[in-house]
Parts: sequence; structure tokens; C-alpha cells
Amino acid sequence: MDKVHLKAPGNWMNDPNGFIYYKGKYHLFYQYFPYAPVWGTMHWGHAVSEDLVNWEHKGVAVFPTKYEDQNGCFSGSAVTYQGELYLFYTGIHYNRPDPHNIHRCLDDQFDACQMRITSKDGEQFDNFNDKRMVIPPISDREIGDRADTRDPKVWRGRDAWYMVLGSKTKDGRGKLLFYKSADLSEWKFAGSTSKSGLGRIWECPDYFETEGGGVLMMSPMGFLMDGREREEQTICMAADFEEDTCRMDISDQWQYMDYGLDLYASQSTTDEEGRRVVLAWLRMPEPVDGVWSGMFCIPRVVEVERGHIYFRVHPNVEKAYTKKITSPFEADEAGYRVSLDMEDGETVNIGGYRVSRRGSRICADRSEVFAAFADYRMRFETPDVKDGWRLDIYVDRNLIELFVNNGEYVISNAVYGLGGEVHGTGGGNVEMYTIE
Ligand code: FRU
Repeated sequence: MDKVHLKAPGNWMNDPNGFIYYKGKYHLFYQYFPYAPVWGTMHWGHAVSEDLVNWEHKGVAVFPTKYEDQNGCFSGSAVTYQGELYLFYTGIHYNRPDPHNIHRCLDDQFDACQMRITSKDGEQFDNFNDKRMVIPPISDREIGDRADTRDPKVWRGRDAWYMVLGSKTKDGRGKLLFYKSADLSEWKFAGSTSKSGLGRIWECPDYFETEGGGVLMMSPMGFLMDGREREEQTICMAADFEEDTCRMDISDQWQYMDYGLDLYASQSTTDEEGRRVVLAWLRMPEPVDGVWSGMFCIPRVVEVERGHIYFRVHPNVEKAYTKKITSPFEADEAGYRVSLDMEDGETVNIGGYRVSRRGSRICADRSEVFAAFADYRMRFETPDVKDGWRLDIYVDRNLIELFVNNGEYVISNAVYGLGGEVHGTGGGNVEMYTIE
């Protein structure tokens, strides 16, 4: 059982996949390498939850069995149709496996196709008989790249199913491909969109509509080239998708999903109440205790107000922190929340992780609890804050998530060796809660 944050059950996890509420439970799959705490031939690990707070690990759901996916079942998504669960993912076939490590390939020589597997109950997956390829590797270079086209996100439109894939153009810009289907089996290429200046491959695209407008989230590679780890980042922006023509307009104004720049490869779904909820993978520079690497952030509700995209703690998680404590030593193993209002110039030090306010910005400094990783960014700040100075900081052993004004901005960071004390320079308005 994991609480609040789903963590790799040993070895390696990356992107969230197939996130869906199905038959009374949340199903959350993830990119999983079961043999060592490093990236390798991808499987889909599986976990379920009734409340988005308590997660039960279910083992491996999807694994390579076919020629087309023999080197990995890459990221993808889930929908339900006629009572069944449909998972879509990218099948990877290496043309030049690395002879020294068959879990990697040489010179980017691989083929990517889009595959599907179904399940009648969300528990049983027949990897031998229930898989099919729905989109073969792309052979028309004008459409997309044969290797770098992946991460199908499928959704139900007005009167058809749609799929968005992340890809790249011939001249190395990010590109989205749209496919359309009546029955989730036959898919037709129906349109594409691209833009310069936003990286070179658009991984994990996700389009959804909210009351405040359409949103595109995606994870461009080659995005933040400041010489530090990591250049891939998850961004979001207003977008408008026209179903009849499969055209998408993307706003020039983008935000980071998270200003801690450690989260990546987000995926959203709708919860039991119809809220749009998103999760992402926390990239960790080294395995914890040498045995596991990778975890997910708190599920966040996405809302658009006055053109700004908010990422708010899911109410189930917020409500779970009911027990008031006076010291982190009283906290549950899932951690604690520190809440305060921050005046200009104040700092709060959470076990070596420093949060402060400088004028209209909230800043974070992890240099004391990330000292071993010099190639990484240490200091972070929000853009100018408008809504107030309320901070809710969720602290787990290796992840701190700082929500400014209920999700106006979020800064989340991986940390190692966090201390057990919280000190503030402010007026003593710091409150701490943990899970009972
Ligand atoms: C993003 C990503 C995806 C891909 C998966 C492979 O982190 O590179 O584009 O499907 O990871 O594990």
C-alpha cells in the first residue's frame, strides 16, 4: 500500500499511463522496468485506489509479447467502451538492440506503432491474445517520424473517438498527430499541428476541455536548454480543438505545469465527480536506498480561471490531512503538510528545504537537500503571484510539493536526506497536519 504518492514498488517507474476511473476504482498504470532501478524494456505496472489517497499495487498488467512491442510497451492511455477497459500504448521494436544491454537500442534505430489491449474487469489482461496493432509505424515522413511517434492519448469527442500522438517534424520541431475512430479499432490520420520554439519531440500530449476552456499539456524534449538537468519539461497552454477538421490552435502563452521543473510526462483523467485530475512522474537522480526510483505527485485538479491554469490539490488528499501536529516527528510515514501565510522577506526551512517570499514571488532552494547532484537546478521561483500568500507544502521523504494560493503555482522538488525539523522566521502562523 502506498499513501498519497504512488511509488515504484522496487526498481524503476516513469510516466503515469492509463489513468482512469473504472467500475468504482481508480486505475493507474505506469512505465515500469521490473529488474533494476534504471530505465529499460518497458512494462506497464498497475495500481488501484478507491479514493486517490490509498493505492494498492497490482503487479504487471502489460508486458512485451509481440514482434511489434518486444522492446517495450511505451506510454499510453485508457478509455472505457461498452463496459470494457481499452488501453492504448506505443509498441517498440528495436532494429539495432545494444548487444551490451538489450534493454537499449543503438542510433535510435527502432520502430514505433500504436497498440491496444482490452480487459473486461480492469484486473485481467491477456497479453498473448488480446493485443492488436491499431496504427502501424509511420512510413510517410511528411506525416510523422517512424521512431519518434508515441504516447497515444484517446478521448471521446461529440460523435467519434480521437487520439493525439506526440511526434516531430522533418526539421526537428515538435508535432502532434490526430487520429479519428468510430469503434476504437480502425483509426484514420485526420490532422496535425506543430510550432517552432517549443522543443523537438512533443512527448505525452494530453488535450481536454474544462469550464474555462480547452487545455493542452505536453512534455517537449529539448525545451529548457540552460545546461542543467533536465531539458525536457512539462508545459500547458490554452488550446482549441475542432473535431470536424481535427485542427488544433495552440496559444503562444504557456505555463509550466510545475515550477520545480522535476515533474514530467503528465497524464489526466476525470474523477468520480467529473473533475479533471492530472498526475506526473517525479524524476529522481538516483534510486532511494539503491532499490527504487520514481514516484508520482499528488493528483491535482486542473481548473482554468481568467486564462490561468490552476493545479489544485485533489480534495480527497487535502481532506486526508486531519491530524494537527506540532513537530514532523509526530507525522505519519506518508508525511505532513505545512500551511502558512508568508510575508515578504520571510523564510520557512523544512528540514533543509527553504521556502521564501521575495516581493511578489515565492522561491524555493533545495541546495542543502540535493547537494550530491551538482548538475541539477537548485533554486526555483514562481512567476509574479497575484492571488495572495497562502502556502500549503506537502512533505514526503523524497518529494516536497509547494502549492501557492491553492494551485495558482506549484513548485515540486525531489529531495534526499531531509531533516526532521521545521523552522520559520515568520509570525508563528505555521500549522502542521498529518494523515491519521
Ligand atoms: C516520457 C517517455 C515517453 C515514452 C516513455 C518511455 O518520459 O519518454 O515519451 O513513451 O517515456 O518509457
